[in-house]
Amino acid sequence: MRFKEIYDLAINLGIDSDIRDLSHIKTDCSEYYSDSQILHGDHDLEVENIILTIDIGIDLILLINEMRKNNIKIDAVIAHHPTFFASYRMPEVAKIQEANWIRYGVDQKTSAFMIDRLIREETISIGSGNHLKAVFAAKSMDIPLMCLHTAIDNITQNFFERLINEHQKSTIGDLLKVIKKIKECAMGAANGNGPYLVDEKTSERLVGNCMVDMTGALDPPQEIFKLLKECKVDTIVGMHYGMENIRSIIEADISSILIGHMAGDSIGLNHFCDILEDNGVNIIGGPGFYRFKRK
Ligand SMILES: [Fe+2]
Repeated sequence: MRFKEIYDLAINLGIDSDIRDLSHIKTDCSEYYSDSQILHGDHDLEVENIILTIDIGIDLILLINEMRKNNIKIDAVIAHHPTFFASYRMPEVAKIQEANWIRYGVDQKTSAFMIDRLIREETISIGSGNHLKAVFAAKSMDIPLMCLHTAIDNITQNFFERLINEHQKSTIGDLLKVIKKIKECAMGAANGNGPYLVDEKTSERLVGNCMVDMTGALDPPQEIFKLLKECKVDTIVGMHYGMENIRSIIEADISSILIGHMAGDSIGLNHFCDILEDNGVNIIGGPGFYRFKRK
């Protein structure tokens, strides 16, 4: 596949899995998800061998350069988490979270206020960092690089929305057992990084009205959990939250299962990689990526 074809495939999978209806928007693929971008390399490059990593830095670019010198075929690198301008622009994708809150009954005005504030604050916060290092290394070694973040997290969101639909009448404890059997989550658990209940005391409760929170890039504002509880959300199944939000979930008395960060990212990436392999692209799993073929 050409480098740009691989990129377009990921974006289109992200659009197909998006909780918003984006079908009426006709624009270039690079405009849909600010944190999913081609960062270096010829768009027409024929790609047969890819290394796929969750994060990218100078260290990994150097390692990949060494691997290439040792005759390991790597035509291009795909990182899940954004870097370079895709990092600085990442907060824009949080708009998906606003759409998710509204779906669960949070009023539009409050949702818009909270998301605008979150995007502004995170843009300032991320803007204080240097996100130019990995691309500097990739350009220096001329290693083609793209990052695919929210387009892929949308696939994970979709995967769990379908799963949860079948388990609304289960208990939280039983749903946790089902999630623990998902291959990527089991691989995470084998490394001591498995799915868990935010509050063990919720185990016997029913799943009920459950929101899936796997996409939108940023930790949501703390206040959202109380508002979701008022909107009769019983349970949140998410990928990972910071400690402040974990405390807020407990305080809001919402049941929550967190599936694990690397496992959650890997579920979306594996769906994408299965299609790449069908198209003749070989995948090397890089750090953090639990490769598992579903087909
Ligand atoms: Fe992630």
